[in-house]
Amino acid sequence: MSDLFSDANHAQPGVEILDSGVVLLHGFALQQSEALKREINKIDQQSPYRQLTTPGGLKMSVTTTSCGDLGWHSDEYGYRYVRRDPISDLPWPKMPDSFLQLASCAAAKAGFDHYKPDACLINRYMPGNKMSLHQDKNELDFSAPIVSVSLGLPAVFMFGGLRRSDPVSKLLLHHGDVLVWGGPARLRFHGVMSLGQGHDPAWGSQRINLTFRKAG
Ligand code: SIN
Ligand code: FE2
Repeated sequence: MSDLFSDANHAQPGVEILDSGVVLLHGFALQQSEALKREINKIDQQSPYRQLTTPGGLKMSVTTTSCGDLGWHSDEYGYRYVRRDPISDLPWPKMPDSFLQLASCAAAKAGFDHYKPDACLINRYMPGNKMSLHQDKNELDFSAPIVSVSLGLPAVFMFGGLRRSDPVSKLLLHHGDVLVWGGPARLRFHGVMSLGQGHDPAWGSQRINLTFRKAG
């Protein structure tokens, strides 16, 4: 599987089919990135980024928040989706229409029609922050893909197989890229390597990742 990503298939300009069910849309979110930033800032004001604890008691390296009907949460009781922000006990901020539209257009471009996510996890990486290999499996609906939007500093994404021990390919994700994985790839292990130092004129020294899911 090591040459998976060098053997890429370009169906249309900017659309890279990496494997069955895995599509990278180069720069797909670029034009909307300023509008996305304004929405992200509004969400942060209502439900601020926080550092979650894993069920094993470790602090996650990234800080996270959510919008949509369901928000992803982790603490000593496990990984799960919750309807209210545990900090405020209020519902999570509504998913902005621009988020929904971006996610469903990206999914359609990748071959997944009628995508209507109900959860958007927002991960904020500062230099040195990372995400270890994991599967996204707290969702009830695995028939819907994951749509993942990268903003700000570039990051090295790790894409493994269906077993933790499978070989891992590395993929550089740039500002504005959208990665979609679903169907036979929906439960593939993935993660993000430690974010390097850098400064983006519009985003500063950080990477923001929007991960859309159909969770409920
Ligand atoms: C995640 O798997 O939740 C994050 C992926 C990413 O930051 O690109
Ligand atoms: Fe994930």
